[in-house]
Amino acid sequence: KSVAAAAAKAVENALPEVPKQPFVIGVSGGTASGKTTVCDMIIQQLRDHRIVLVNQQDSFYRDLTADEAEHANDYNFDHPDAFDTEQLLECMRKLKNGCSVNIPKYDFKNHGRSSEGFRRVNTSDVVILEGILVFHDSRVRDLMDMKIFVDTDADSRLARRIIRDTVVRGGDVTSVLERYGKFVKPAFDDFVLPSKKYADVIIPRGGDNHVAVDLIVQHIRTKLGQHDVCKIYPNVYVIHSTFQI
Ligand code: ADP
Ligand code: C5P
Repeated sequence: KSVAAAAAKAVENALPEVPKQPFVIGVSGGTASGKTTVCDMIIQQLRDHRIVLVNQQDSFYRDLTADEAEHANDYNFDHPDAFDTEQLLECMRKLKNGCSVNIPKYDFKNHGRSSEGFRRVNTSDVVILEGILVFHDSRVRDLMDMKIFVDTDADSRLARRIIRDTVVRGGDVTSVLERYGKFVKPAFDDFVLPSKKYADVIIPRGGDNHVAVDLIVQHIRTKLGQHDVCKIYPNVYVIHSTFQI
């Protein structure tokens, strides 16, 4: 018996150490391209895996100074400097290392951190980081095991953005169009589109593209079945970079 136990121990010691890290997916794309929709579709399909944490980059918007808040219409929320990337990095590194984190909640109507504070989340088998500029910083990109770019025509995105911002996020059509021309479109051309080259997978037509989402889910399932990703975490979450309240 002791020989068998010793043999089992020897085999155990000989096995390579399995890194217990979640599989991290980045989902980028222009405003209203369908990033959140695609994340929701992935999570829906992975339900049986007890999976995903979605972290939204929007949760890591910097708080505005009193002066910036007073002139919020002139503030560029589409520039990389609008985000607290150091805080996002720290959060993602902790999740990657199996730790729990506090994810700030963001209030679009008041352009700042929500008074509701934080969402406490444990890490998960799969962590999805979603946001317009999640491929911009190489340190954030380097934490990702898979990068997806949701590619939807600009006119469809603008139409959806007008509806969403007037109905959900509390703006009027004129101010939405002004912001789009002044900040959103130029920042898309300068920062979001150039980051598309880092994507492993580009999804045309966003959430309408069921074939692409099926293929992505198949790939994640394969990864979850391999040794580089452990099924050690009891939950699946998606981290939205922007948490809408
Ligand atoms: P993002 O996360 O990229 O900003 P969302 O997934 O939140 O985009 O979608 C933006 C808006 O467009 C939402 O109101 C959503 O309901 C709508 N939407 C998303 N995908 C589609 C689609 N394929 N057809 C019609 N409306 C859509
Ligand atoms: O969900 P989506 O990816 O579209 O979120 C990013 C967009 O949110 C940016 O294009 C930015 O203009 C907008 N935004 C806003 N007001 C804020 C913060 C972000 O309209 N306070």
